[in-house]
Amino acid sequence: MNMQNDPKWTYIEDLSEHDDQLVTIKGWVYNRRSSGKIRFLLVRDGTGVVQCVATQSDLPSESFASIDHLAQESSVVVEGTVRADKRAPGGYELQLRDITLVHQSVDYPITPKEHGVDFLLSNRHLWLRSQRQQALMRVRAVILKSIRDFLDDQGFLEIDAPILTPNSVEGTTSLFEIDYFGDTAYLSQSGQLYVEAAALAFGRVYCFGPVFRAEKSKTRRHLMEFWMVEPEMAYFEHEDSLGLQERFVSAIVGDVLSECQDELASLERDTTLLEKTTTPFPRITYDEALEILARNGIDKEWGEDFGAPDETLLASQFDRPVFVERYPSSCKPFYAQPAPDRPEVALCDDLLAPEGYGEIIGGSQRVHDFDLLRRRLRESELPENDYQWYLDLRRYGSVPHSGFGLGIERTVAWICGLQHVRETIPFPRMLDRIYP
Ligand code: 4AD
Ligand code: MG
Repeated sequence: MNMQNDPKWTYIEDLSEHDDQLVTIKGWVYNRRSSGKIRFLLVRDGTGVVQCVATQSDLPSESFASIDHLAQESSVVVEGTVRADKRAPGGYELQLRDITLVHQSVDYPITPKEHGVDFLLSNRHLWLRSQRQQALMRVRAVILKSIRDFLDDQGFLEIDAPILTPNSVEGTTSLFEIDYFGDTAYLSQSGQLYVEAAALAFGRVYCFGPVFRAEKSKTRRHLMEFWMVEPEMAYFEHEDSLGLQERFVSAIVGDVLSECQDELASLERDTTLLEKTTTPFPRITYDEALEILARNGIDKEWGEDFGAPDETLLASQFDRPVFVERYPSSCKPFYAQPAPDRPEVALCDDLLAPEGYGEIIGGSQRVHDFDLLRRRLRESELPENDYQWYLDLRRYGSVPHSGFGLGIERTVAWICGLQHVRETIPFPRMLDRIYP
């Protein structure tokens, strides 16, 4: 696409549309080398990297001489002729005609040598410029788009939930508390309670945004701030929700496989197992999960929640994501509907990703009976007064309803094959890190 004020300005990803034409690229120096009288410059512009080849006779002499002084990440505008070249990354290179330095970068801290992850995280604002991070952020963006496309096509309405809230959703131990003009408020742990209200207004809805958990443990899977999409459906029972979840997740994986081949290849992601992410997903109950763990030497009491090693073992029994259903109600928050045939377990599910990436979805049918919800709030020692609005949803036209939350960073980690969630979000918030 050409820009109005500069008809020759082209993005690297569009070079194939300009074979043999003179174009301008506005970007940054990624690397350079020289070989005899020829200069090779790798320029990136955020859409890709192109090799620029400069020979003395093609450029004004000062421009040619300036190339030897360009430091990594200097910003430059280059002009050149597009040439198809099978060996070049992207299939095209630029025969340079001119180059203008916009800003000389001095001592860029991230060099092509290996750096430790702490150093890179401290330089996250610059690290985002590197090829691997570019691939990860592109996959993340495709996942975000795929999520919205799927839900919008299914007739869901996107409803934004507030970030400042008086209510706890997922337990009181992981709340970020703030002073709200003398009252106590929290950063939202989940938009669920609000999309429940919206589901009774609009039928099928979802919220999509950042949520916050003061998780006082350092793990590969936990961030203090992460993104979650939370669909909520009126009149959906637990089984209806499971069917939606598996179609949703297989659609997301399918979109990434078809749209991000280059990115997955550059991340060296083996996609064999990802390609098996088709419906139906296997389903086991919490009780069956306990038996699988016991057979593998892990003995758990009924009522104990699963930890990361348990989830990894359970997931390793299957070649695609697996639903674990019917956890003890005591493992789940106040809002989870008890099973009518066995009230000590909840109509809930965790979806575990294969290959040890852990829980990517938590979902449940919600308590729709007023008295039961009130009792559950009391048992959880939550202040009933702050939940009057939520109880109203059970006072006026209450219906069975269900929903779930998919964690974006864990989904990106799984699909991209990353052991740690820290690289799946542009600026990770971790226990020991809020800078930059
Ligand atoms: O299982 P969780 O806590 O469920 C809820 O918050 C429900 N209220 C959602 C709902 O039903 N609307 O969180 C849902 C998902 C998890 O499966 C996981 O993928 C992700 O959010 N998640 C985290 N991701 C990164 N860092 C953390 N600290 C996370 N905690 C949960
Ligand atoms: Mg959960």
